[in-house]
Amino acid sequence: MSELVIKNLQVSIDDNEILKGVNLTVKQGEIHALMGPNGTGKSTLAYTLMGHPHYKVTAGEVWFKEENILEMKPDERARKGIFLAFQYPVAIPGVTVANFLRTAMNARRKAQNPEDKGIPLPEFRKLLKEKMDILQMDHVFAGRYLNDGFSGGEKKRAEILQMATLEPEIAILDETDSGLDIDALRIVAEGVNTLTGPDMGVLIITHYQRLLNYIKPDFVHVMYNGLIVESGGPELALKLEDQGYDWIREKYDSVPVG
Ligand SMILES: Nc1ncnc2c1ncn2[C@@H]1O[C@H](COP(=O)(O)OP(=O)(O)O)[C@@H](O)[C@H]1O
Ligand SMILES: [Mg+2]
Repeated sequence: MSELVIKNLQVSIDDNEILKGVNLTVKQGEIHALMGPNGTGKSTLAYTLMGHPHYKVTAGEVWFKEENILEMKPDERARKGIFLAFQYPVAIPGVTVANFLRTAMNARRKAQNPEDKGIPLPEFRKLLKEKMDILQMDHVFAGRYLNDGFSGGEKKRAEILQMATLEPEIAILDETDSGLDIDALRIVAEGVNTLTGPDMGVLIITHYQRLLNYIKPDFVHVMYNGLIVESGGPELALKLEDQGYDWIREKYDSVPVG
């Protein structure tokens, strides 16, 4: 069984320390929700796991399959079985969703087996149809140009379909997009619920408590000021839904003296 192990991760942006020692383990088959108020470092964690050059790791390690992935390039991380939802947010006119997915899938297959000649087209078409049916998506979608004029919800569909075809061992989704409406949120949640099973671990990042109306995570974590300050089970999600983040602020803000 694969697991992603984040150990004492400290990250700076332009010499500002954002993450101050994050520890978190996500195993295949588990759904983890990472919550927390805006500006506490959730996206910084996602970008760092992806390998964004802007984020400087000053301490810590991230282990996956006997390797510290912080030493790997973003595409190597993806080929190894880590999926980062916002890795390809740009529109690619001229490249269909299907072509894009086939290319990404072949890259992953080749990483697993250097002799692999790529998935034959009929087999790929069959697989893509199966995945689209599982996600209740119109097959027409596969022929559209990737993200070209896509609505927020359609971008999320493309993301979830990508996750379905690549079958990652660990998927990390940052859902803190400004344009994320309730429909898009529901698409992501239903996709995650449909695709999770013993082979896939998920870290879903959001500040929307209402996401938890749709996803039933096994573990819930709260990030505050660059640290995971609370971890628990679904009961923590219920408490957040009920009480918001004020109790977190009160508990973890240092009380001004004088
Ligand atoms: N590119 C950046 N340059 C400078 N500061 C940044 C940058 N991105 C994020 N930050 C700062 O890092 C902190 C954490 O941001 P972020 O990880 O986006 O939080 P969250 O996703 O929890 O809302 C915030 O104080 C934010 O202002
Ligand atoms: Mg964010």
